[in-house]
Amino acid sequence: MLRIGLYQLHKPDPAVPWAESVGALRELLDAGTIRASGISNVTTDQIREARQILGDGLVSVQNRYSPAVRDSESELRLSTELGLAFLPWSPLGGISRSSLDGPSTSAGTAFHHIAAERGVSPQRIVLAWLLARSPVVIPVPGASRPASIADSAGAAELVLSTEELARLEHALPG
Ligand SMILES: NC(=O)c1ccc[n+]([C@@H]2O[C@H](COP(=O)([O-])OP(=O)(O)OC[C@H]3O[C@@H](n4cnc5c(N)ncnc54)[C@H](OP(=O)(O)O)[C@@H]3O)[C@@H](O)[C@H]2O)c1
Repeated sequence: MLRIGLYQLHKPDPAVPWAESVGALRELLDAGTIRASGISNVTTDQIREARQILGDGLVSVQNRYSPAVRDSESELRLSTELGLAFLPWSPLGGISRSSLDGPSTSAGTAFHHIAAERGVSPQRIVLAWLLARSPVVIPVPGASRPASIADSAGAAELVLSTEELARLEHALPG
């Protein structure tokens, strides 16, 4: 039987009780239509409730997370605790070429400085920084150019030093 490997619920529907939406994932798991499920754009309470309903059938959380948008820190922490993959969407800020091309913020400057020292793109530094946040992080950068994909893939091999990570943390807003 053909199964969907990972089926992700895009966003909680405010008109539908969360337990009911997650219950539909439970039914897909039980029917064998999907092997594993994920949830996206969720709070810590929604992650906990989904975990209760889906158990090990819940494997991933996909929230927006990047140097510029870090309001999912608590969801990242909880995903780490529970061993759920955390897939930051728009990890480069969604419009990364324009947002990272001009180092107008202290965080942007720090990412650019380290990129220049390493001789790599600022985007690769952002992705390496995300990978260093937690072992459960799997960034999903978007790209329309093959060159972007090849460049971003290099982040998997780039290990930032403790000193570099401290510089980046120091430069990030609040
Ligand atoms: N779950 C959700 O609610 C949700 C919402 C939004 C997005 N997403 C997912 O998140 C993923 C990524 O989001 P996104 O595309 O909005 O934002 P993003 O990954 O933050 O940024 C994509 C932009 O970064 C550029 N880029 C990527 N790698 C680069 C590199 N190494 N060097 C230079 N530029 C680079 C791309 O340029 P080029 O196009 O020129 O290659 C593109 O303009 C997508 O797969 C999307 O499906 C999920």
